[in-house]
Amino acid sequence: MQANLVILPGDGVGPEVAAAAVEILDAVAERFGHRFDYTEQLIGGAAIDATGQPLPEATRQACEAADAVLLGAVGGPKWSDPNAPVRPEQGLLGLRAALGVYANLRPLRVHPKLAAFSPLKNERLKDVDFVVVRELTGGAYFGAKTRTDDAATDECKYTVAEIERVLHKAFAMARERGKHLTSVDKANVLETSRLWRRAATRVAAEYPDVTLEHQLVDSMAMLMLTQPSRYDVIVTENLFGDILTDEAAALAGSLGLLPSASLGQGTRGLYEPIHGSAPDIAGQGVANPLGTIASAALLLRHSLGLEDEAAAIETAIDQVLEHGPYPRDLSGQAGTAEITAAVKAALGAQGAARHVA
Ligand code: NAD
Ligand code: IPM
Ligand code: MN
Repeated sequence: MQANLVILPGDGVGPEVAAAAVEILDAVAERFGHRFDYTEQLIGGAAIDATGQPLPEATRQACEAADAVLLGAVGGPKWSDPNAPVRPEQGLLGLRAALGVYANLRPLRVHPKLAAFSPLKNERLKDVDFVVVRELTGGAYFGAKTRTDDAATDECKYTVAEIERVLHKAFAMARERGKHLTSVDKANVLETSRLWRRAATRVAAEYPDVTLEHQLVDSMAMLMLTQPSRYDVIVTENLFGDILTDEAAALAGSLGLLPSASLGQGTRGLYEPIHGSAPDIAGQGVANPLGTIASAALLLRHSLGLEDEAAAIETAIDQVLEHGPYPRDLSGQAGTAEITAAVKAALGAQGAARHVA
């Protein structure tokens, strides 16, 4: 097949990990006989430096016209002055809103070899395999904001329609997986959470085969670490989902491993690792590219319907995690290029094995 992909390298390690993922997409295209046409566009701090805007019009238009968008990361100390008129992160939020990608899937599995890198006891990490469905275009991120010298507000607003559509994605996903959905809120304090909980209970009636459980976010933050294997699909609002998924990354061994897919109504999606621009290691060629490479696999699955190709990348990642080389964030020595080459080699070996068979 032919597909038009927009690549948004962004800032910090963004360009390094995005280039790694493109290299793997190229390897997949070659092995499976596809053609991916790439357009690179500016976003974030790089876009502010070049145009004054974190999401230039050309970028927005290219993304809206693409089959899928792959993003590295945005942000960094250069653009982090609290008094700056624009911030890189606004580019990413604007893009999520423009594309209408309201459901952010953040899958997490713990590779057995990596249990040693988690700060948690190994036995707790057995059979950990869950997906967080994070609402992505509402809540405090997008509410009205005010700031004076001595007070500030961030309005947290949700409509029933916004809540229900992400709940439907989560229930549908639970139906395809372990039929267990945990809805995370703060219904003991927040009105938005009470609206959320009511909607979840109502929508649950349409999915009688899925068990719904409600969990308050503070205890969820604890349970995710003490009983991670209990969870199947977890659905929550924007800010809670942001925080819980960085926490979940500690289970997997490193933030650098986690991918994400942001989806809306159609098949077009935005794919990015969950980590940021990692300014502390940017430009050194040592960033772990596996979260972005795994995001490329999600792109193939969810936007292009290429399940075998997605699975081939995921198997190749698993093979690298099984045998090494390991990147620095997993106590190894390998840089971004070496890890990427290892994934490519694993992909190539699968292809060769298939020909022999
Ligand atoms: P971060 O995720 O950039 O980094 C946190 C820690 O994890 C750092 O020590 C970093 O070195 C490490 N890390 C992250 N990704 C890694 C990788 N691929 N390989 C190895 N180590 C990795 O979070 P932060 O430092 O809080 O934020 C830095 C900037 O990134 C901020 O401007 C923030 O707004 C932005 N950010 C952007 C995104 C995004 O573009 N999607 C996501 C999160 C944060
Ligand atoms: C993420 C990031 C973003 C978020 C920032 C950079 C706006 O932390 O994708 O997890 O909070 O959504
Ligand atoms: Mn985050």
